Amino acid sequence: MPTETAPPAIELRQVNKHFDALKAVDDLSLRVEAGEFFGLLGPNGSGKTTTVHLCTTLLQPTSGDIRVVGHDALRAPVAVRRELGLVFQESSLDRTLSVWENLRFAAALYDIPGPLARRRCRELLALFRLEDKASTQVLKLSGGMRRAVDIARGVLHHPRVLFLDEPTVGLDVVNRDLIWQFLETLRREQGMTVIASTHYLEEALPCDRIAFMRQGRLTALGSPDEMLRGIGNYVLEIHTENDAAPGLPDALLGAPLRLGDRLLYRVAAHDPPMDELRRRLGDRVRSLQLRRPSLNDVYLWQTHGTS
Ligand SMILES: Nc1ncnc2c1ncn2[C@@H]1O[C@H](COP(=O)(O)OP(=O)(O)OP(=O)(O)O)[C@@H](O)[C@H]1O
Ligand SMILES: [Mg+2]
Repeated sequence: MPTETAPPAIELRQVNKHFDALKAVDDLSLRVEAGEFFGLLGPNGSGKTTTVHLCTTLLQPTSGDIRVVGHDALRAPVAVRRELGLVFQESSLDRTLSVWENLRFAAALYDIPGPLARRRCRELLALFRLEDKASTQVLKLSGGMRRAVDIARGVLHHPRVLFLDEPTVGLDVVNRDLIWQFLETLRREQGMTVIASTHYLEEALPCDRIAFMRQGRLTALGSPDEMLRGIGNYVLEIHTENDAAPGLPDALLGAPLRLGDRLLYRVAAHDPPMDELRRRLGDRVRSLQLRRPSLNDVYLWQTHGTS
């Protein structure tokens, strides 16, 4: 749980990371409190991995300040690394070693004494229901099992801040759920700060706060609830016959977001005039659907909308 005295888990002030002319991270300021469960969202190439690599000292910023649990990432990178765990977008396990060997090797790197290391490895394997895979070579695991071992490896030393770059990419729903439940447990039981990027937006619902990035910039920051409320009470989705506008005056609902033959409208009204809309549109549209906003809608307006 966040406390008033604990330094923020991470604090970025006007951070820039340029790769030649490309601004991968562009004037980013962000503070994540100790104990928060934080989601980093954004389209491909928006700067999520670069941000994670800057916070974990794998990259140095072009300019700006980065602090992790109060330590300066530029001046005290070793202190920063001691505080954090990192699960990379790509697996960092040795595929030719067994699950157990991978975990024990990581424990040795972190100087965790033998008996404690063995206990933690056993506990983590039990949590992920992988006890019977301990002596299996990593290359023989399924993608979901491999990801679980990657995460086990990242939390073995009980870091205060855990970064995960797309921890659940390519996994089925059951394994994705298992991993998010595990992250929630780490946060609850160990007070670990968890900062995870994901493309599966519905996964971000349990986060305390989420940030949307676009072209290296933060475009929105808040709790999932706040973000959903920002969309409105409903989203009206209209499928048109072709790309032509169905002739709905913008004054009625505001400007739509157009995605191919789909038009999405944000609806603030509690009781939208659906009968009137149906009358007006008649048979010029294929379908008309009114639904509650989802994080997908937030994402669509963040990435495609103008406002
Ligand atoms: N080492 C590098 N050299 C040059 N450009 C880079 C480098 N690393 C990243 N970039 C560029 O910086 C931008 C941000 O990349 P980044 O990997 O941070 O995006 P991302 O949000 O993690 O994307 P994805 O969702 O696809 O993982 C991209 O345009 C990418 O091509
Ligand atoms: Mg990435």
